[in-house]
Amino acid sequence: MTGKPKIVLVVGARPNFMKAAPLMDRLQQEPDRFDTILIHTGQHYDHNLSQLFFDQLGMPEPDSYLGVGSGTHAHQTARIMVELEKELMRLKPDLVIVFGDVNSTLAASVVCAKLCLKLAHVEAGLRSFDNTMPEEINRIVTDRLSDYLFATEDAGLVNLRNEGVPDRKVFFTGNIMIDSLVNHLKAARESRILEKLSLEPRNYVAMTMHRPANVDDSETLSRLIKCVADISERIPVVFPCHPRTAKRIKEFGILDGNSHPGLTIEQPLGYLDFLKLQAESKIVLTDSGGIQEETTYLGIPCITMRTTTELVATVEVGTNTLCGSDPQKISAAVDRILEGGGTEGRIPDLWDGNTSSRIVEILRQKLL
Ligand code: UD1
Repeated sequence: MTGKPKIVLVVGARPNFMKAAPLMDRLQQEPDRFDTILIHTGQHYDHNLSQLFFDQLGMPEPDSYLGVGSGTHAHQTARIMVELEKELMRLKPDLVIVFGDVNSTLAASVVCAKLCLKLAHVEAGLRSFDNTMPEEINRIVTDRLSDYLFATEDAGLVNLRNEGVPDRKVFFTGNIMIDSLVNHLKAARESRILEKLSLEPRNYVAMTMHRPANVDDSETLSRLIKCVADISERIPVVFPCHPRTAKRIKEFGILDGNSHPGLTIEQPLGYLDFLKLQAESKIVLTDSGGIQEETTYLGIPCITMRTTTELVATVEVGTNTLCGSDPQKISAAVDRILEGGGTEGRIPDLWDGNTSSRIVEILRQKLL
């Protein structure tokens, strides 16, 4: 390698941005050592799912925006691969870093493997063991193709070892999303979102839902929305709604003409508003991955509308309860928390705000 190593970070969808922001920031603090380039695939393109996060996380504008947009999995992944291949052939980086488990992560990993570029995966080793989740396929392929695997929790280390990944490739660096949370919690506390939505601290449920398994089938989605409407008669529910879910609610005619005064459906919120909404809530109800982790750090009881989780620590030591899409289980979990349960939990090891520094230290050793 001659001169400074050129490092490309590839992001594409909402949950990538809070994982990439702290690492981008750390690398850019060392401009004499690293040449850092940011590529946004454009998988998420709505203002509230993308630009708002760049603004609030203080991320620089991407050096390159591929504008791939939505489509079927094959279509979206293939478009990212075609556009990214051109960029990476032009840039010839020394290392490409990918994050999490979205289609942009998978596409970038395959392109790097074919171009014989070194690849690092931040958030390696997580497994739900549910191959019907598109993210599980993305994780398995990305880890298989990566040269440096940065793991967030013990379960990830065990999974990688069981899959035969050599120990020399694996580094336990902790949870980088928590770096963003720690960096922005003070600013989030200043958010006026509770006043805006007329919510009282510790007296509402903050909800998100967008997984295909929950929202793409009309019977499942109707059942879940009815369950949430019932809960909203006991405690207010605020639901910033992902565009995929909003589209399905409309398409299936769910909620048509039915009024539920306790249930507020909102546009997706920005990072700071949603952090505040979580931090002040009584309960979080979700099918997201990252929110299971953020609530564990914040000590807020989280009810997860999935039967499996790749984030084992959130259940083992954190505040997370898995209820699937079963209304009885969800309702019982809500009641248990309203009666005072669900707050027992501790913060997993290395979820401390210093993960990006640990990763940069390893990159220094490997690349300089
Ligand atoms: C993606 C990730 C998922 C992550 C989620 C967070 C994959 C396989 N899934 O799911 O892991 O938890 O992001 O948000 O990568 N859409 C818009 N505007 C946008 C983006 C999407 O309207 O800016 C709509 C489109 O109709 C699109 C649908 O949402 O077809 C799904 O978007 P897509 O990026 O394919 O997956 P998500 O469900 O967002």
